Formats: sequence, C-alpha cells, structure tokens
Amino acid sequence: MLSKKMAAALNKQIQEELFSSYLYLSMSAHFSDMGLEGFANWMSVQEKEERDHAMKIYSYLLSQGAKIKLLQLDEPQHEWKTPLEMFQAGLKHEQHITKCINDLVDIAEKEKDRATFNFLQWYIDEQVEEEENANGILDKLNLIKNSSDGLFMLDKELAQRVYTPLAAAE
Ligand code: FEO
Repeated sequence: MLSKKMAAALNKQIQEELFSSYLYLSMSAHFSDMGLEGFANWMSVQEKEERDHAMKIYSYLLSQGAKIKLLQLDEPQHEWKTPLEMFQAGLKHEQHITKCINDLVDIAEKEKDRATFNFLQWYIDEQVEEEENANGILDKLNLIKNSSDGLFMLDKELAQRVYTPLAAAE
C-alpha cells in the first residue's frame, strides 16, 4: 500500500519519463533532418526505452492498487545547432532524471516504504548507465570536433544500436 505522497511522486515520474521519450523523439527527428540516420536510430531506441521506464512505474502503481494520473507533457525543444549540443542537452536531462530518482528514494526511505525502495533500485542502476552512455558519446563528439569523417564513422556506429523491450531484457 503506497502513501498518497509516494503515489503522486511516482505518477510525476511517469510524466518525467514520458517527457524524456518526447525529448529523444524530437532529437531523433532532428538528426533525421540533418541526414544523420545512425544518430537518429540511437535516439529512436532511447525514446522507446524511456517509454519502458514510464510503463514500469505504471505497472508498479497498478500492482499496488494506486491510482494512475497521467499529467500534461511539455513541448520539447525542436532545434539544436550541433550533435554535440544535443548530447550535452541529453546528459543534462539525464542528470535531472537522476535527481528525480534520488528524490523518490528519499521519500520511500522517509516513509519506510521498503517495496518502493526496492523497486527504485533498478532506476538507480539504470541512471548510472544512462549518464555513462551520454558521456561516452559526448567524449567521442569532443574528439571528432568538426571532422565530417569522424561524424560519419560515429553515425555508422550509432546505427548499430538495437532496441530490446524491457520485459525481454529482464
Ligand atoms: Fe528514463 Fe533516461 O531515464
């Protein structure tokens, strides 16, 4: 049984994860506009993973008999100047999500809500991976700088990313 505060905070996190999906979908579309289909693929996979993150919370709330309340999504940014700027924005966004998860863990701890505390451990690990992924690509973009050959090679690499539905990955 979740407290009203915990349920509201988890509902808010569904919104955060769905906004993440919206943001990465916008980035995917922008990469396609730029002719960088590998980058667009990477963002498209990311977008789907974010929906999985939202749905995992959705299922948890239902399993606990809590009310689902879907909140309004903001319009994401549509234009960026460079791939570097996009991944910088992506990393900043993931750092924000990490803070959201940490805040949720704080609530669960204060309320001695062991079930939610355990549930959130998956998200703590996931956020380490999310920041690592964004940082890894940022490092490469910083090395590439303005080299179109480098960008072309990285685009080919990012084209390899494959989406694995969360239920299948666990
Ligand atoms: Fe669901 Fe990228 O955090």
